[in-house]
Order: sequence, then structure tokens, then C-alpha cells
Amino acid sequence: MQPLIIDDATFAREIPKAELHLHIDGTLEPELKLVIAERNGIKLEQTTADEIRETYKFHDLESFLNVHYPNMDVLWTEQDYFDLCSAYLRRAAAQGVRHVEIFFDPQLHTSRGVPFSTFVSGYRRAIITAEREFGIHAALVMCFLRDHGVKYAMATLMESLPYKEWILGVGLDSNEQDHPPIDFKDVMARARAEGYMVTVHCDIDQVNSIEHIRQALMELEVDRIDHGTNIVEDDELLEIAISRGIGFTTCPLSNSQVNPGMKAGEIVAMLDRGALISVNSDDPPYFGGYVGDNYVALQEYAGLDRDQVVKIARNSFLSSWLPTHLRDSYVAELEAWVAERTPAATSAEEAL
Ligand code: ADE
Ligand code: ZN
Repeated sequence: MQPLIIDDATFAREIPKAELHLHIDGTLEPELKLVIAERNGIKLEQTTADEIRETYKFHDLESFLNVHYPNMDVLWTEQDYFDLCSAYLRRAAAQGVRHVEIFFDPQLHTSRGVPFSTFVSGYRRAIITAEREFGIHAALVMCFLRDHGVKYAMATLMESLPYKEWILGVGLDSNEQDHPPIDFKDVMARARAEGYMVTVHCDIDQVNSIEHIRQALMELEVDRIDHGTNIVEDDELLEIAISRGIGFTTCPLSNSQVNPGMKAGEIVAMLDRGALISVNSDDPPYFGGYVGDNYVALQEYAGLDRDQVVKIARNSFLSSWLPTHLRDSYVAELEAWVAERTPAATSAEEAL
């Protein structure tokens, strides 16, 4: 059979993949912010989507969070959270996402008086609807805001327990400065005892990056690390992570906001060394692209060949928290998709 001919960018954008590092709270597009604000009778300073997009400007993690968090003030009803999550799932499905583990930050909403049941039910309804409409599979991963303290994190963990069936695991995000993973050791141990998987943000180029990665791996014994590419500075830690099969959920376009080289050298070095590197979008409207766009950006910047792109996509399923049979079936789907788009080697080429 003749292979389907597509260019390298289309190949990278559309290849079947899992997304493992996506903050649903960070997917609020300006157009949707306008619609939801109007529906809820909230008066905004801006009157057009372009004006709102103009405010999506920052220069580091802290200034990004200071733009992103106040945008949450428009979200109040189950329908708002349904619309937010549905909009993301539609876009992700169009960029080849077959499975997504969606981060959500309960404290951005409970701290304003929105009940846990409101947002979690909206997300859940969006997930069920999108599975039916776009064939995308999704689950939730609950993140604690590390700058809101350990007590509030533990209380949030307790509040999540009635919804355990819908939540695969827990994570740790927000401002990393002065908030090391070790502070959350007990919270994460309790989460694990409740059956949750554990991941932790170790954002790029933080103060004490390596020590935070060490704590995540050796003290919290995490299942994955979000970002974490500074680990290349410590060969011993990297070897431990590789031998344990720890996934690293990297985000090239997010990185490019603080590091002009998007950490491409580190990402590719880790990939080639055998680390379970995946590529993800983090907070797409803020960082300039959804997950397929991140694949294309990295491919173009680092000059990835198709085998490297396929390896990243395969890693995304292998480092997901899907049960083995589902993981295997997505990998089989990926291999078949690639085979349909790859010319068969001639016997002369095979002899080489
Ligand atoms: N919240 C949303 N995106 C984040 C990121 N990249 N790091 C920490 N907290 C976040
Ligand atoms: Zn993140």
C-alpha cells in the first residue's frame, strides 16, 4: 500500500499522543473569558478578546502566575468549568491527543468560595462528553498550590476523597521559590495511601532546582516529574530517574518564555539517553500553543527526525498512568499510524 505523504510539521502535530502536563485552569482563552464574564454579570476592564490577549504578558513563573490567577475570578458555575474543559478537549483532540491527564488546581476556586463539587463535576461532565464526541480519553490529576501551605493542601486532599474514582493522582504546582517538595512529604504520602499517583513540578532554572529534584525523587519517591530538565546537571540523579522509569513532562513553549533555547538541548539529551521525556503544553493560551504546536516547535528548533518524534509520542503513553492494556493499545495505534505514513524500506536499503 502507498504511504500517506505528509510534511514533518503535520506529522509532529497530528501524531497520536498523550498529554500529561496541562493545567485546565490555565487554558482560559480570551474569547471564552469574555463569554463567561458576560454570562456571570462580571464587568471586565477589557471589552475585546484582543485586549484580553494583550494582558497575557509576563517574563517568569511568578509574573505568569500573577496574570493567570486573577483570570479565574470569572469562573463560578458548573457550566463555566464544563465549557473551559470542553474547549480544551476539542482543541487537544484536533492535535492528535488520544489520552490526557488534566491538572486542576482546586484551591484557585475553593479559596474564592466555589465548592469542590462545582468544578469537579463540570470537568467530569466535559470529559465524558468529549470521549463520546471526539474520541479523546481523559482523567484528572489534582494539584496543590505549594505557596498556599501544607495544611490547606492536606484539607484539599481530604475534600477530594469522595471524587477519588475520577482522580488518578496528585501534583504540586505554583510558585516554587521557597516551597521545596520536602514540605509536602506527608501530604504526598497520604495521597499515595489513598491510591493516588504522585507527580511534582520542578520548574526550570529555579533556585535550588537540583535539590528540589533530589527531594522529589528520593524523599517523595514520585512517579513522575513535571519539567525537571535541570536534572541533566546531576548525572547520578539522572541515572536513578532513568533506571526507575520516571517520566519527565517537558513543555518547550512554556520554557521558551524564560529560556530562549526552550531547554531543547537538555530535552533531546535526556531523550537520547533513554529518559521518558514527553512533550506537553502547560498553559496553552499563555505560552502560544497546544500540545501539537509544542511538538512542532521542538522539532523545528532542535531539528528532530521522525524517529525522535515517534519516541516522544511513545514515551507519552508509556509514562501515562493508564492501565497497561490501554497503554499498550494506544502504543499499537501509534505504531500503525506511523507505519501508514512511512515508506517501506527497499531491499537495497534494508541490506545496508
Ligand atoms: N501553574 C500553571 N502552570 C504552572 C507551571 N508551569 N508551574 C507551576 N505552576 C503552574
Ligand atoms: Zn505546569
